[in-house]
Amino acid sequence: MITRILIIIFLQALIGYFMAPKTFADGIDAQELFKKHCVICHGEDGKGKTDLGEGLGARDFTDKEFQDSITDEKILEQIENGTEEKMFPFKDKLTAEEIKAMVPVIRAFGG
Ligand code: HEC
Repeated sequence: MITRILIIIFLQALIGYFMAPKTFADGIDAQELFKKHCVICHGEDGKGKTDLGEGLGARDFTDKEFQDSITDEKILEQIENGTEEKMFPFKDKLTAEEIKAMVPVIRAFGG
């Protein structure tokens, strides 16, 4: 009995050791996430010229003035919390790591 418990504890530790770094660090494809969750409003080119984006008033991510006016913290905050009746929050849909990985994607539109 004791041996069995020890084996189970050992196996769990082993699994935890190999799984943890993977789930937290690797495997985030921020471009893919943007396509999946954001393109419908913000467009492939980030200009927000989609029916939904224009209708709701999404800004042009390629615009220098927009890029200069927003901080990384604000981008994070916007993705986490959204704007009522304009953009829904993503904090329940994406992990904190995924949201963080999205900031450079938004910045990249600025060139
Ligand atoms: C339902 C449409 C919709 C979706 C989906 C959407 N957004 Fe938005 N987003 C908007 C609108 C509309 C605004 C402008 C909000 C405002 O004026 O407060 C906005 C604003 C932003 C802003 C800038 C905030 C600002 O000050 O203008 C960022 C950054 C952003 N979205 C990122 C994202 C990311 C990343 C995703 C995907 C994870 C996403 N959005 C998904 C509609 C959307």
